[in-house]
Amino acid sequence: MNTIQDRIPLSNGTSIPCVGFGTWKTPAAEATSAVLAALEAGYRHIDTATAYGNEQAVGEALRQSKVSREDIFLTTKLWNPDQGYETTLSACDKSLSALQTDYIDLYLIHWPHDRKYFDDWQQKNLETWRAFEELYKAGKVRAIGLSNFRPRHIENIRQNCDIMPMVDQIEFHPGMPQEETVAFCRACDMVIEGWSPLGSGRIFDVPEMQTLAEKYGKSIAQICLRWAVQHGVVPLPKSVTPSRIRQNAEIFDFSLDASDMSLLDGLTACGWSGLDPDDLVY
Ligand code: A2P
Repeated sequence: MNTIQDRIPLSNGTSIPCVGFGTWKTPAAEATSAVLAALEAGYRHIDTATAYGNEQAVGEALRQSKVSREDIFLTTKLWNPDQGYETTLSACDKSLSALQTDYIDLYLIHWPHDRKYFDDWQQKNLETWRAFEELYKAGKVRAIGLSNFRPRHIENIRQNCDIMPMVDQIEFHPGMPQEETVAFCRACDMVIEGWSPLGSGRIFDVPEMQTLAEKYGKSIAQICLRWAVQHGVVPLPKSVTPSRIRQNAEIFDFSLDASDMSLLDGLTACGWSGLDPDDLVY
């Protein structure tokens, strides 16, 4: 990978730009200008979700931008209460209309239903997946995947699907490498995307990160993002600040050596968002 526009193949023959622009916690009022700044800085992969409340504003940026829609990889996610066959089909239509586009490049189930709160969690996730397969076959979405799914949730889909998910988007940053889920996805030929690759901003207080930033003459954010890219994970850094948006794209003029990759792999318990797929109340 040499630029943020370079692409990683997906199992269905499409491909995904190796860095995306995250919009979790970006208020709708700031999302249009943030996405326009990202497109200007060279990002071609924009990640949003119905739950973020900014799909309309993201769509507005795509409409205003000089970059053509075909050159942009756009992801959105089905929100939890919309899980189910019919509800998924209509939620996708609502997202398409908010985003002012006639297709989504990647549609994800935002969170799995899980056993703690749903006796029928497997069935529910499968009903939703059946709708995802329909949307894919109809061409409304060009790739389909999961988010925050752990191996047992993926295995349920794997054993019962016609079309395997192409992606799992999980929290991924130094201190949270999620080795088990990453290995499982790799074995299933699924690409991993990393949300909160900067540990929601909390990674900046970790002394080892500061030491590495000084060693490479890069920012802590750039070290985190480079680590993800070297792992073959697609990071989705969020920022509303144009200088940071540009800085987060400048990670292809250096590489972390093997010992520093291991050091980052071994960092424990820093930056966790606090969100756990096994204990999500909604
Ligand atoms: P802001 O949006 O105000 O620029 P994550 O992607 O892990 O969820 O982290 C997002 C947080 O990190 C936001 O608070 C964002 O602030 C901040 N951030 C993004 N890029 C940088 C950067 N290069 N340097 C410092 N903070 C950053």
